[in-house]
Amino acid sequence: MRHLLSAADLDRDAALRVLDTAEQMAATQQREIKKLPTLRGRTVVNLFFEDSTRTRISFEAAAKRLSADVINFSAKGSSVSKGESLKDTALTLEAMGADAVVVRHGASGGAHRLATSGWINGSVVNAGDGTHEHPTQALLDAFTMRHHLVGQREPGAATGEDLAGRKVTIVGDVLHSRVARSNVLLLHTLGAEVTLVAPPTLLPVGVQTWPCATSYDLDSALEGADAVMMLRVQVERMNAAYFPSAREYSRRYGLDARRLRLMAEHTIVMHPGPMNRGLEISADAADSARSTIVEQVSNGVSVRMAVLYLLLAGSDDVDGGTA
Ligand code: NCD
Repeated sequence: MRHLLSAADLDRDAALRVLDTAEQMAATQQREIKKLPTLRGRTVVNLFFEDSTRTRISFEAAAKRLSADVINFSAKGSSVSKGESLKDTALTLEAMGADAVVVRHGASGGAHRLATSGWINGSVVNAGDGTHEHPTQALLDAFTMRHHLVGQREPGAATGEDLAGRKVTIVGDVLHSRVARSNVLLLHTLGAEVTLVAPPTLLPVGVQTWPCATSYDLDSALEGADAVMMLRVQVERMNAAYFPSAREYSRRYGLDARRLRLMAEHTIVMHPGPMNRGLEISADAADSARSTIVEQVSNGVSVRMAVLYLLLAGSDDVDGGTA
């Protein structure tokens, strides 16, 4: 495949190929010298029109550890703030010979536009488009779940195992979350059973057609869950009051010490970051032994190495090399 725009671009085999390749990348990251020569001479551009900490740094680290040249472009401080269009920005990147463009854009469909416009020849990786999708986040989340919930593995073992029958509860601001949508799609592909829990105001129209269950009751949705993923309340995307007060939100949809005790012993607590501590997640929950939040960040580097490798390193392609 040439681009990674949506978690739905990946069928089960392609998704497992990314996860298994990421296992191998993770094994190389245990070595003293972490850098591989694989993408020497290739150029990866990080094109960020929206703020990001983890995703941007982790794509940069991933590309550098594969020896690619990396150009970081953030809209702040560039000619975008002078009104330059996505098209002119893309043409500039093309002139610089980008083999891959990792793009985060505030508009849903931004990455798709870049990939299908004909403005650039390289691969496009969606690093978050508006409230739509964030496929590499879903991949790193699945990678993290596989580590904790599917047997015990040695780093580097390519397993081919999916998440069949694992129960994942995703909680909070689903309406504004590209992480939730990409996770639902990928987890469904991998055989997991997903329940979304949110107040009715924070569930998107049409959620009934998504391949998952929905609930308004967090306590009951914690029972039997293997993983509980908390979503950030995205205040910057809220133009209205979606819930009565922060306190009321935390009481009904926040993960706190009492709710931690309702979970099974093996259940992991996830969050894509950045967290609103005290709102959707309490410090006890975020810092508990069952939290994988920091691990998710380091897994992000291995997974993004795998994605860049599979998109750029010739015929060994995520969909079997037909691109
Ligand atoms: C997420 C994002 O930007 O979509 N963060 C991330 O990539 N780690 C989630 C969020 O902003 O809440």
